[in-house]
Amino acid sequence: MVIQNNSPKNIFLIGLMGSGKTRVGRIISNNLKLKFCDMDEEIEKNYGMTIAEIFQSHGEAYFRDIETETLKKIAEKAGQVISTGGGVVMKNENWVVLNKNGITIYLRASVDVLWSRIEQDSNNEKLRPLLQVEDPLGKMKELLSERTTLYEKALIIIDTDKLDPNNIAERVIKEISLIH
Ligand code: S3P
Repeated sequence: MVIQNNSPKNIFLIGLMGSGKTRVGRIISNNLKLKFCDMDEEIEKNYGMTIAEIFQSHGEAYFRDIETETLKKIAEKAGQVISTGGGVVMKNENWVVLNKNGITIYLRASVDVLWSRIEQDSNNEKLRPLLQVEDPLGKMKELLSERTTLYEKALIIIDTDKLDPNNIAERVIKEISLIH
């Protein structure tokens, strides 16, 4: 597979909150012996604040700017599996970086499945400021409908509703091997 031969490529996992990007990304990176990078974790480390704190004290527009800066910095290196933030697809500028530096993979799921995964996640308050609203399920539906066409710009789309994280990782690895 080209990714294992010092190619300039990375694997970018994209999808809404709850799509399993981080969990699946870690499994893929272990299996392919590639480095793993989570964009939100990288932002928190570099700015010394949680994502929620950044939203709270500086607002979403500022977060989007540092998200783009972080993406550009991460993408300079090759051979990584990168779990992107769910909103990375919203800027054209980010797509240029994604397409130039790797393969994009959309972990697609229905809103019901996304919601059930999110409800089980104890990190919600810390990580998901966009869902700290009166009707978080309604917000998820809104985000999904706003972003579906953007997520579907990915090179590879995996339907994950009926798969567990190990199966999703296997599917991703198989799909990547087919295009190289
Ligand atoms: C966001 C998703 C989050 C995080 C931020 C904004 C979004 O990342 O970047 O809360 O706009 O969908 P995850 O998708 O990793 O939860």
